Amino acid sequence: MSIDELMAAAKAVRERAHAPFSHFKVGCAIEDEHGRVYTGCNVENASYGLTLCAERVAVFKAISEGAGKLQRVAVVADTGTLTPPCGACRQILWEFCGDAELVLENLSGTRETMTVKQILPRPFDASFL
Ligand code: THU
Repeated sequence: MSIDELMAAAKAVRERAHAPFSHFKVGCAIEDEHGRVYTGCNVENASYGLTLCAERVAVFKAISEGAGKLQRVAVVADTGTLTPPCGACRQILWEFCGDAELVLENLSGTRETMTVKQILPRPFDASFL
């Protein structure tokens, strides 16, 4: 699958964001080693802390649906400065996606590519346990 196709999936699922409180919609699409795609949007909650970000929804869907190695993550939001995953999502992405490629994009088509590892220096993970 091309990165454009993965981005298109992230943009499509972003439209399903449940964001009545922030009105900030985020979409995420994750490709596994078999080319399967798992998507997620942010899902907010009236008790704000229960909100789940798009990235975590996508990762948890992928895990629960039996995905293979997760190797590419696309995130889309409508911001001039590209929206990076929050701290909680960085931890989850690191644990489940390892050193996956991470591609951020906005609705104007500005795109930046990095790795999950780059945005979480000195990570804590199971290797310490
Ligand atoms: N949000 C995400 O879904 N992903 C991010 O990377 C940053 C923040 C969501 C959570 C909340 O629903 C809204 O954006 C505002 O923080």
